[in-house]
Amino acid sequence: MTIQHPNFGSLPDDRVIMFDTTLRDGEQSPGFSMNLQEKLRMAEALTDLGVDVIEAGFPIASPGDFESVQLIAQTIRGPVIAGLARSARGDIIRAAEAVAPAERKRIHTFLSTSPLHMKYKLRMEPDAVLQAVTDSVTLARQYTDDVEWSAEDGSRTEPDFLCRCVEAAIKAGATTINIPDTVGYAVPEDMFRIFNMIRERVPGADGIILSTHNHNDLGLAVANTLAAMAGGARQIECTINGIGERAGNAALEEIAMAIRTRPDAVHRTTGIVTNRILKTSKLLSTITGFDVQPNKAIVGRNALAHESGIHQDGMLKNAATYEIMTPESVGWAKTSLVMGKHSGRAAFRDKLKALGYGDVGDNQLNDAFRRFKDLADRKKIVYDEDIVALVDDEVLRDHQRIRFVSLDVRAGSKVKPSAELELEIDGELRADMAFGDGPVDATFNAIRALFPHEVILRLYSVGAVTEGTDAQARVTVRLEEDGKLVDGQGADTDTLVASARAYIHALNKLMVKRVRTEPPAVAAK
Ligand code: KIV
Ligand code: ZN
Repeated sequence: MTIQHPNFGSLPDDRVIMFDTTLRDGEQSPGFSMNLQEKLRMAEALTDLGVDVIEAGFPIASPGDFESVQLIAQTIRGPVIAGLARSARGDIIRAAEAVAPAERKRIHTFLSTSPLHMKYKLRMEPDAVLQAVTDSVTLARQYTDDVEWSAEDGSRTEPDFLCRCVEAAIKAGATTINIPDTVGYAVPEDMFRIFNMIRERVPGADGIILSTHNHNDLGLAVANTLAAMAGGARQIECTINGIGERAGNAALEEIAMAIRTRPDAVHRTTGIVTNRILKTSKLLSTITGFDVQPNKAIVGRNALAHESGIHQDGMLKNAATYEIMTPESVGWAKTSLVMGKHSGRAAFRDKLKALGYGDVGDNQLNDAFRRFKDLADRKKIVYDEDIVALVDDEVLRDHQRIRFVSLDVRAGSKVKPSAELELEIDGELRADMAFGDGPVDATFNAIRALFPHEVILRLYSVGAVTEGTDAQARVTVRLEEDGKLVDGQGADTDTLVASARAYIHALNKLMVKRVRTEPPAVAAK
């Protein structure tokens, strides 16, 4: 039966809906929090990537979460914007308010259905849970025709009860039913069986979209997703780089490329523009400060590199000997030399366009161009990756209270390390100097002198954007204030400048976080 969906109309039978929850399930995990502008930037990138639904957040969790869902709903055009809500009335109304400005909106409400969760977490009897399913979906339907209902801990739910809950949700008007493997416990056979069972046993299941949402605790999230699809799931919930609670969620890039690479085995299509995958993955890494591991499928540095002699020999004779997908199909370009210090603004703009940054505003372009010139003066070879790091860095710094201006550091074995720093704070230029136990310490002390604050430095890490001693350093700084953690990033050929930028980035985020309140005690997974 062809499904008539309120936001997608009649979907071709082989088309799956890609539901991205990077900004909700992904952002919820420790260390991955993003500020308002970063979430908007990610939402824009997800739109360009071709996702169908963006779960923008959990509006009741905090005023900051509400604001970001609302801003994304106001700004993003194309994908459906979803807001998460527990079954409580207040949650649903808050989610409805947050997604109200969206061109296409969805309320996603959930309730636990497994014996363990009902007894210990909800302290509710099954009949009361069943009633709450009906009530919550009925209420959500008063605000939008597109309502998703999730059976939290669905994979560990007693089958008869799961079918009754799903039936109640469909009767109350849910248009998508999601069966999450909340704790990453399922194996592929379980998922296949559950989806088949729902399709066979639940009246009305053939008229709605079934959705799968898998956590990666046993490393099976993507395998479980494919098995659920074979069982009839038409919506795939996933995140970029597989980020998410604990071991994360199913990785969007892995599912999209499995579908594209094995049409013979997975008879489905997506709307994902696969050659934007790498760019989106890198943007997320820049924003969160977490690079993926080198061997991460699809987006890891080594994922499509062929180093061994035997492999290289085979590749030269015929690439298909060892290559199941081309690097270009996911956005890897052959590392190319870009313009030198004599290149002009027009060439730089062209290069940005080719790298997928055609939409960078004039101010950001000017700042990025200035930094590019500076970089080309200091660095023999400027790679595409350098430019990407630099532009992402500029974009992240838009709308910030504290801006880096200049840094002069003295260090070595004979002098007491000192740092002279200039910052622009709320539009006003200020300068100061400080000493420290080393050049990084002196730099951070200078920031504290110019902008007094009390935080704990939890992490300081340095990585290289490309190879060579003249490579740009990418620094991550993690700060803690009242138990809240934020990460900041900075990139520059000078490790100390990158360190200052990263610290200031984190400080700016902390100021945004200060106006947020605590999330509610019963947060979704
Ligand atoms: O893992 C889970 O159960 C969830 C639901 C809120 C969909 O994230
Ligand atoms: Zn989840």
